[in-house]
Amino acid sequence: MKARLLLVLLLVSNITLSSGFLDVFAAAASYVVNKFFERDGLLPFEPKGLEKDLRDSLFGQHIASDVVLKSVTSFMTDRKPNKPLVLSFHGTAGVGKNHVAKIIARNIYEKGENSKHVHMYISEHHFPHKEKSDLYSAQLKEWISKSVSSFPRSMFIFDEMDKMQPKLIDTIKAFLDYNARVDGVSFHNALFIFLSNAGGNVIAEVAVDSWREGKDREELWMNSKEMETKIFRNIFNNKNSGFQHSSLIDHHLVDHYIPFLPLELKHVRQCVMAEMVHLNMTEDFDLADKVAREMPFFPEKEKIFSVKGCKSVRQKLALQMDE
Ligand SMILES: Nc1ncnc2c1ncn2[C@@H]1O[C@H](COP(=O)(O)OP(=O)(O)OP(=O)(O)O)[C@@H](O)[C@H]1O
Ligand SMILES: [Mg+2]
Repeated sequence: MKARLLLVLLLVSNITLSSGFLDVFAAAASYVVNKFFERDGLLPFEPKGLEKDLRDSLFGQHIASDVVLKSVTSFMTDRKPNKPLVLSFHGTAGVGKNHVAKIIARNIYEKGENSKHVHMYISEHHFPHKEKSDLYSAQLKEWISKSVSSFPRSMFIFDEMDKMQPKLIDTIKAFLDYNARVDGVSFHNALFIFLSNAGGNVIAEVAVDSWREGKDREELWMNSKEMETKIFRNIFNNKNSGFQHSSLIDHHLVDHYIPFLPLELKHVRQCVMAEMVHLNMTEDFDLADKVAREMPFFPEKEKIFSVKGCKSVRQKLALQMDE
């Protein structure tokens, strides 16, 4: 026994002499420390911080910015909310729906969107097979219950909500009610965010109409031209949408249907400038303008709004850099 111990000690002292081992040891130790001691809790919620983050990093979405700030702030500062916060984001491609969900997450959790308390489900990725909806429904119920019972302030993001099977939407619905208590667990502190393109065309139409009438974009509000009602009606009447066939909508459990407006050239330019900062490039307004103008715009004739929003801006910028 003593001999074996001696051998080990000899080996260790020998290896310790090599700096290579020290490096490996330090890396392993730091991994263990990070893994076990890294914090993944809640940040102290600062309404001013969220307001600044939205102002600095969200472009052209004054309605979303206002409604998100007010609803998240009042929910996060309410000691005893009477239901979970349920927000539904609507808009065409690349206008910032996922982006805002991330902004909310980084103002609530120490690890932001990477927190283990932030759960993201993408319909066609996580629940691809129609015939498995019973299995998915049982799994989803268990995932949500477990997460909330171990951490009440959990956040659930459902992407492509319009492609979600009605059965799964109904499963989620069970957690959203005022008196939602599943297996003795209250869900009142949780946040649910639904993302979809449903209603995106209606929002785009309202934006185009308003532009043609010569109105300022900022004149558009939640109730302008009955925007929220129109979104609501549109997703409710769309036969292809999972929303329509579920009981989520007629139970009025969604707190806000939030329109994301189509983005104009100046907003896409801002996105390119933000990408430059992200890529540690020197900011170059002319290059940003060039990249933004390469994007397709609609309507066909006037070319006011970006078809893909700020999507693939980074890739377009990379192309320009190579030239
Ligand atoms: N309004 C915006 N302000 C700032 N950046 C934006 C905005 N819209 C989009 N972006 C940028 O473009 C990227 C793509 O946008 P995002 O993924 O949020 O689009 P989306 O609305 O979820 O689109 P889709 O419906 O296609 O999923 C974001 O990561 C962000 O960098
Ligand atoms: Mg998205």
